[in-house]
Amino acid sequence: MLEFLTRANDGDAIAILKQDHEKVKELFDRFENTDDLRQKKKIAAEAIMELKIHATIEEEIFYPALRKRGVEKDILNEADEEHHVAKLLIAELDQMTGSEDHYEAKFIVLAENVRHHIKEEEGEMFPQARRSEADFVALGKELLLRKQQLKKNGVPPSDEDKLIARGGIADSPARNARKASAKKVTAKAKAPARAKARPAPKSPAKKARASGRR
Ligand SMILES: [Fe+2]
Repeated sequence: MLEFLTRANDGDAIAILKQDHEKVKELFDRFENTDDLRQKKKIAAEAIMELKIHATIEEEIFYPALRKRGVEKDILNEADEEHHVAKLLIAELDQMTGSEDHYEAKFIVLAENVRHHIKEEEGEMFPQARRSEADFVALGKELLLRKQQLKKNGVPPSDEDKLIARGGIADSPARNARKASAKKVTAKAKAPARAKARPAPKSPAKKARASGRR
């Protein structure tokens, strides 16, 4: 019965999170070491699912427990922001087919961001957490239970998913910026001459000075 719960004894919460870290790092290496796009897409899909589940259990269970136990707010806030950036990139990658110009670059930047995040968690956050009085075995059981639920039912859409769904993906921010500036130049060239003659609206300070002179 619920044999995954007994496996929690193999490791406490920190050990479980470290196992997740090893798994995603291995997937990142595999992504970078293959030239086969089909393989890359398969590896990316697996890594993204792992990361979504991992971020959810940390945000729902692990980080709040550490906040209660007095782990430094700055460390936890920074971790939240790193999750936020990773989730924005994941939301964009989720909408890509893999054939886009920036698909590979986006995944590599995600991997770099997560590698840095892992370094900080393992180097600063986890040692501080260890010194707290948290019950890591009980926390570990909670993490595993939630993991199972998320694997079975799927991970609910994040705020970042909703944001990207509204705004669309930035496949190439630099190229988009070039296009936007080209459009501006064309629009300016087409604008009627009398538009130029229209006086600029007065600033509130200018208005105040003008009324004072009357
Ligand atoms: Fe994390």
